[in-house]
Amino acid sequence: MSLVNETPQWKALQAHWEAMKTVRMQDLFADDPGRAKAMTMEVAGLRLDYSKNLVTQETLDRLVELAEAVDLQGWIRRMFEGESINNTEGRAVLHIALRNRSNRSILVDGEDVMPEINRVLARMESFVGRVRSGDWRGYTGERITDVVNIGIGGSNLGPKMICAALAPYQSENLRVHFVSNVDGTHLVETVRPLDPATTLFIVASKTFTTQETMTNAASARDWLLTALGDQAAVARHFVAVSTNAEKVAAFGIDTANMFGFWDWVGGRYSLWSAIGLPIALAVGFDRFLELLDGAHAMDEHFRSADLRENMPALMGLIGLWYANFAGARTHAVLPYDQSLRFLPAYLQQGDMESNGKGVTREGVAVDYSTGPVVWGEPGTDGQHAFYQLIHQGTQMIPADFIGAIHSHNELGDHHPKFMANFFAQTEALMRGRTHDEAQAEMLGSGMTEEKARLLAPHRTFPGNRPTNSILMDSLTPQTLGALVAFYEHRIFTQGIVWGINSFDQWGVELGKKLANVILDEIKKGKVTADHDPSTRALLDYFIQHRGA
Ligand code: F6P
Repeated sequence: MSLVNETPQWKALQAHWEAMKTVRMQDLFADDPGRAKAMTMEVAGLRLDYSKNLVTQETLDRLVELAEAVDLQGWIRRMFEGESINNTEGRAVLHIALRNRSNRSILVDGEDVMPEINRVLARMESFVGRVRSGDWRGYTGERITDVVNIGIGGSNLGPKMICAALAPYQSENLRVHFVSNVDGTHLVETVRPLDPATTLFIVASKTFTTQETMTNAASARDWLLTALGDQAAVARHFVAVSTNAEKVAAFGIDTANMFGFWDWVGGRYSLWSAIGLPIALAVGFDRFLELLDGAHAMDEHFRSADLRENMPALMGLIGLWYANFAGARTHAVLPYDQSLRFLPAYLQQGDMESNGKGVTREGVAVDYSTGPVVWGEPGTDGQHAFYQLIHQGTQMIPADFIGAIHSHNELGDHHPKFMANFFAQTEALMRGRTHDEAQAEMLGSGMTEEKARLLAPHRTFPGNRPTNSILMDSLTPQTLGALVAFYEHRIFTQGIVWGINSFDQWGVELGKKLANVILDEIKKGKVTADHDPSTRALLDYFIQHRGA
């Protein structure tokens, strides 16, 4: 099978970029007074303005032709119908089933997955109700006040991001904490202020073999048992979320307290499954369902809208336009919402673990860029850190700005100030400032001609830097669900066009394997394996200064 960059549609886009690369966005607005309106759409409570992109209607037509050439719509259908599209692991990709609020049947190997999904949801509802009402008590009979989720990657980033984002909806009687890093500091500092008698641990691991999670879980169990002194306490203070009942039982958690999910849920797509248990505990089960509702609304749009009107597909294609034709290497996610502070980190896994691949589904090496580096920080912190490079650096960095009309914390004029910065940044990035404008401004403020001449290049902004603006009325479980699903489908779209499998993650294997060899050497205090000279010297130094 040929690579996508050999298709006529790709080559047409290459030629089109040659024509577009000198186009100024401001001229596009001047030529078409209806541009902002035509390039704004609303889906599932999200309003997206994508007019500040270096694209014309022709660009979009050509991008959609590329998507059609790789049968994007066929792949969308195959995902929603439960086909085994994760070909290297032989699995379906069905996070969309977890939030299938229509309850339409979805078959995997001829069996409808919805009854099982609904059964686990019902168990979650009952458990969440018991913990939140105080019916579920700790070993000493006290009410649970703190929940500690122990997990890493997809078993941490999603629930952690959502819990922070929905903080205004959280119960004050139940605090939720997250421990992921195997650095002992993470666990020690998290549990230090907690009372073992009122703490519930969720051990969240799809495989229940992940070194970091199992190490943290074992230390958490020791902490609990040191305080409560009876093995029987584990059953009241530990629950598990996993696909691996055998390992859960071996760890000592009663499988009656295990919430299952399935191999067709990828770790980085799992917050909608029982991995979302900490979310439901924090904000209540009904709010968790609202989160699923929001995601489902975006799913329905993605599944049924024409590509030309399809929000995630269009955004995926525009991202690809920059990555493959304009040479962009990174993509910035800039939430103007403090409670979305973990969204960039969440999307780093979502996007980079999905699309950081160098071979096609068939194993052929690609010779075009795939997943960009995804990064970001909430505004306005980012403005005072790295926006300098976005405005005046030598790279093009396409950026998504995300904000709400109403804040959950309307304090004086904070929110208008905050959002004024959002709008100002997107305008400045597009408009820039010419050399003459910079010089005139300085002369106007009384600067000498010589100084103005010297400073003008430094105060010139090239502009023409692309941004998307995503607005919502307020950050609710629904709009948040829609936002996350939007990004998932954006990732899907790009993976399909690149011809890669976005749903495996073999790239994390090698380091894990070597770490086990090295751990053994550190424990024995002797370097035995065949390492390169640098690694050997580092290990020798570590062992020498620390002891076995
Ligand atoms: O980092 C690799 C990875 O497999 C991720 O894909 C996954 O989210 C994470 O590890 C955690 O895996 P598990 O839930 O099995 O502990």
